[in-house]
Formats: sequence, C-alpha cells, structure tokens
Amino acid sequence: MKLSKKDLLGIRDLTVDEINLILETAESFIEVSTRDIKKVPTLRGKTVINLFLEASTRTRTSFEIAGKRLSADTINISSTTSSIVKGETLIDTAKNLEAMNPDAIVIRHSAAGAPQILARIMKQPIINAGDGAHEHPTQALLDMMTIKAKKGKISGLKIAIVGDIAHSRVARSNIYGLTRMGAHVTVAGPATMMPRYIDRMGVRVCCRLEEAIRDADIIMMLRIQTERQQENLFPSLREYANYFCLNGENIKLAKDDVLVMHPGPINRGVEIAPEIADGPYSVILDQVTNGVAVRMALLYLLTGGK
Ligand code: CP
Repeated sequence: MKLSKKDLLGIRDLTVDEINLILETAESFIEVSTRDIKKVPTLRGKTVINLFLEASTRTRTSFEIAGKRLSADTINISSTTSSIVKGETLIDTAKNLEAMNPDAIVIRHSAAGAPQILARIMKQPIINAGDGAHEHPTQALLDMMTIKAKKGKISGLKIAIVGDIAHSRVARSNIYGLTRMGAHVTVAGPATMMPRYIDRMGVRVCCRLEEAIRDADIIMMLRIQTERQQENLFPSLREYANYFCLNGENIKLAKDDVLVMHPGPINRGVEIAPEIADGPYSVILDQVTNGVAVRMALLYLLTGGK
C-alpha cells in the first residue's frame, strides 16, 4: 500500500488505512535508532531540504536526524540565514530550491496554508512541519504512535486535550487523527481559547480541566501559544495555572494508568507541574523518540525509498 497523495499537508487528508500504514512503517524504523551504527541505505542519493521559517527544536532536529539515518543528504534552511531576510518571497524561494532538484521539502511556516501553496507549485513531495495555527500532522502521528505503543490501541480510549485549543495546530491535527482512529476526545480550556467551530469537530467540550480529565486514559496538555495570540486571553499566568495546570492533585481524577503527553516546549508550572512532566505518568520524551521514527517513515513513504 502507498499514500494516495504526493504530499503530507494535514491529518485531515489521511484515511485510517494511511494513518495505520505510516504508524506501522514508523514502528519498523524504531530499531534503527537503537543500533550502534544508526544508519540504513534506504534513501541513499536522495536530498531532503528542511525549510524552517519558524522556530523549532524537536521537529527540525528530528527531521534532520531522520533523513541522515536513512542516508539522505539533508539541508537545513532557516529564515534568518536565507534570502527571505532580503525580501525574497516564499514562492521565489521555493522555485529556486526546486531548480536544485531535491527529492522532498519539509516546511514550517508561521502562516497557515504555506505548505499547501508549495504543494501546488512544486513537483516534489511537501511535508508540513507545522503551519500557523492550522495543522502539525507529524506531531499528531508521533502522538498516535506513542499512544498505540503504550496502550496497544487508540480506538475506545478517553483522551483529554487541555489548554490553548484555538491557537494549537497540535490540537487540530490530533482531533482529526484521534477521532478518525476511534478515540473519544474531550477538549478543555478557557472560553477565550476555544475555537468557535469546535462543536463541529466530533469532540466533547468542557470548560474545566477537572471535568475533562476525569477517568481519562490519556491527558494531552498544550502550550499557551502567546506568539499567535493578538490580545491577552487570560488575566495572568498565575490565574491560568490555577485553573488549567495539570498537577499532582487533579491528576488523581484520571485513570490510575493515565499517560501524560505534551508536544513541547513546556511552560513548567503554567500548563503542567514539573513533578507531572518528569513523573511516572509522563511519556513526553517517548513522544520525542517516536518523532524520529515517524519522520523516517514519512520520508521513506513519500520519496519512494527502497
Ligand atoms: N512539538 C514541536 O513542534 O516542537 P518544536 O517547536 O520544538 O519543533
């Protein structure tokens, strides 16, 4: 089986079979990262350009590692070191990169829809590494891989997503993916951080963290996306933490074997208490490990690796 589209632009475009294909391919790549020599020749001779026009630690690094572990040549471009600072447009930048004949382009951009524009004008596969508040499909895939690895399934699980839902591309991609895979998703956050159309996304909506996490199998905490907020959406960080920080007390409402997830970067003590982020329920660093395997799988599936 193959992916039906040239690009990975969002989870919304994927079928259940395609999500399963990506997760199973990623599971088969996990072992490569545990070897002494972490390299296979699968993408030898291929070139992957990582065009990161917005800050990133986990996604950029793991795409670079993923490409290198598959023996691809990986090139990293950031906004500060590219001719975008001289005023070159995204389309002109893309056309010039295309002229160098890469095999795939990974793009992160602060504007929703930027990967879709590249996908329309370029013949190479485009992978969305996060576009504005729209989608972050590889994050949702690594989250689903982590849930499946720890719980053995996704279908039927009670999953709470808590925090800044409106500005979170992670929340949007996970809502599409987890509901499609049969999970029962509840979202919670301040009313000012809830998108207007949320009730049309197949999720239960709560105003209180306690209500959302009661009997949850998985709690996914979100970062407050201050870089995407146009105005103050809560009185102070302390006030936010009073109502929406996952801590040692309120986590007792969830199932005894609950898993705690966070896409990172974390605002410690704001959305998640340090003892929870670093404690026994946390799978935050497993998410990061699985991110490399998911990105290896996508580079492999989209560039026709052998
Ligand atoms: N989760 C995530 O996208 O992290 P980065 O912004 O560090 O890539």
